[in-house]
Amino acid sequence: MADSNSAALPTARAFPDAVPILIDAEAEVTLRAAGPNDLEAIVEQCRDPEMIRWTAVPHPAGGYRLRDAEEFLALAAAGWTSGQRLGWTIEAQRGALRRFCGSIDLRLEGDGVAEVGFGLHPAARGRSIITAALQLVCDYGFKVAGLRVIRWRAVVGNWASRRVAAKVGFIFDGTVRSLLVHRGELLDGWIATLLRDDPRLPEPWLHPIQMEGKGVRLRPFRTSDVDRIVEACSDPRTTHWLVSMPRPYERHNALAYLDSIAELAARGLGVAWCIADPRDDRCLGSISLDGLNGYAKRGEIGYWTHPDARGRGVVTEAVQLVTRHARKSGLARSILIRCARGNLASQRVAERAGYSKIGIQPISEPLSDGQLADLVLYSCP
Ligand SMILES: CC(C)(COP(=O)(O)OP(=O)(O)OC[C@H]1O[C@@H](n2cnc3c(N)ncnc32)[C@H](O)[C@@H]1OP(=O)(O)O)[C@@H](O)C(=O)NCCC(=O)NCCS
Repeated sequence: MADSNSAALPTARAFPDAVPILIDAEAEVTLRAAGPNDLEAIVEQCRDPEMIRWTAVPHPAGGYRLRDAEEFLALAAAGWTSGQRLGWTIEAQRGALRRFCGSIDLRLEGDGVAEVGFGLHPAARGRSIITAALQLVCDYGFKVAGLRVIRWRAVVGNWASRRVAAKVGFIFDGTVRSLLVHRGELLDGWIATLLRDDPRLPEPWLHPIQMEGKGVRLRPFRTSDVDRIVEACSDPRTTHWLVSMPRPYERHNALAYLDSIAELAARGLGVAWCIADPRDDRCLGSISLDGLNGYAKRGEIGYWTHPDARGRGVVTEAVQLVTRHARKSGLARSILIRCARGNLASQRVAERAGYSKIGIQPISEPLSDGQLADLVLYSCP
C-alpha cells in the first residue's frame, strides 16, 4: 500500500487495500485500515473504563470480547464499502513496537457533513497521538472526501476529548441538553465544529501553571480538594461576603465550581488556582483571575480561604504570585480587586499585596443579611 495522503475516496471494493494510509511523519503517527492483528488491542481498549464512560462502545455483561472486536472490524469494512463510515486504526509506538494505538473515524451524514469519533488504547494516551490523528483525518475529510463541516460531540465532562478538539482548531459551539444517548440515558453533550476554511488555530485555552511561594503553592484544583472547598464555602464569613455562594454548600456545589473553573479556562476567560499548603498540598483556598477576554487585557482577582488558613498571609502571597504571573505572561495588563466596604480582611490583602485604592463603586454588592455594600476598588499600579 502506498502512502496516499492525497488519494481519492476509495471505491466500493475498497476494504482493506484501498483504505488510504495517512502519515504524520513528525508525530510518527500512521492511520491505516484495521486488521485481524489489531483485535487483541481493540479488546484491551474497549474494556478500559474511560472508553466505557465516554463512548458508546459495547459493554456486555462479562465485558467486551473478541467477538465484539470482530464485529467492529466488520463494521469498519462495511463503512468503507458503503462510503458512509471511514475508519482507521491509529498506529504509533507502544512499548517496543509500532502497533495499534486506537481508532478514529468519520461518519458521513451527507451534504458535506461528517461527525468524527475517536478513542485511544490506555497505554497510548498523553502523547498527543490522537491530536496528530485528528489533524490527518480532518485534512483527508476536507481535501479528499469533499467535506465542508466536521462535527465533534462528547458527553459533558470529557475534558481530554474537548481539549484534543480545541488543539486541532475546532470551534466550541456550546452545550446541548440531552444531546447524546448513552447506555439508555439521554445525557447533556458538547458540540464543536471545524469548517473547511477555518484557520485551525488552537482555541485560547488557559492553564493554571504551578507556582511556588514561601508559604503557598498555587496549583490546579483536583477532585480531591472537594471536601476542603465544601468546608471553606460553608463557612459563615465566606458566605456573608460572597453572597452568591449556594446555601447549604454541598459536594455537588464544589464539583460544579470545579467545572465552572474548567469552563472559564477552556474559553480563555479566566484561570483559577488552588492555594495549597506547600508542606502537605492541602487546599487552603482559591484565587482566580478572570474577565480576560477583552481587548484591553484587564483582569480581576477574586479569592477565598478555608477558615483554618486565615490570618497568616497566604492570600496576600497568592495575590502577589498571580499578579506577577499575569503581567509576565501578558494575560492582563491592569488588574482589579473589588472588596465589599466592610470586608477589612479582604481590603488588607489587596493593600499588602501592593494594590492601591482607586475608588468606590456605590451600593452594588448584596450581603447575606440583605444589606447592600459599596465596593472598594483596588488596582495594581
Ligand atoms: C480522548 C482521548 C482520545 C484523548 O487522548 P490523549 O492521548 O489523552 O490526548 P492528548 O494527549 O493528545 O491530549 C489530551 C489533552 O487533554 C488534556 N486533558 C486531559 N484531561 C483533562 C482534563 N480533565 N481537563 C483539561 N484537560 C485535560 C491533556 O492535558 C492534553 O492536553 P495538552 O496536550 O495541552 O496537555 C483519550 O483520553 C481516550 O481515548 N478517552 C476515551 C475515549 C474517548 O473519550 N473518546 C472521545 C469521545 S468524544
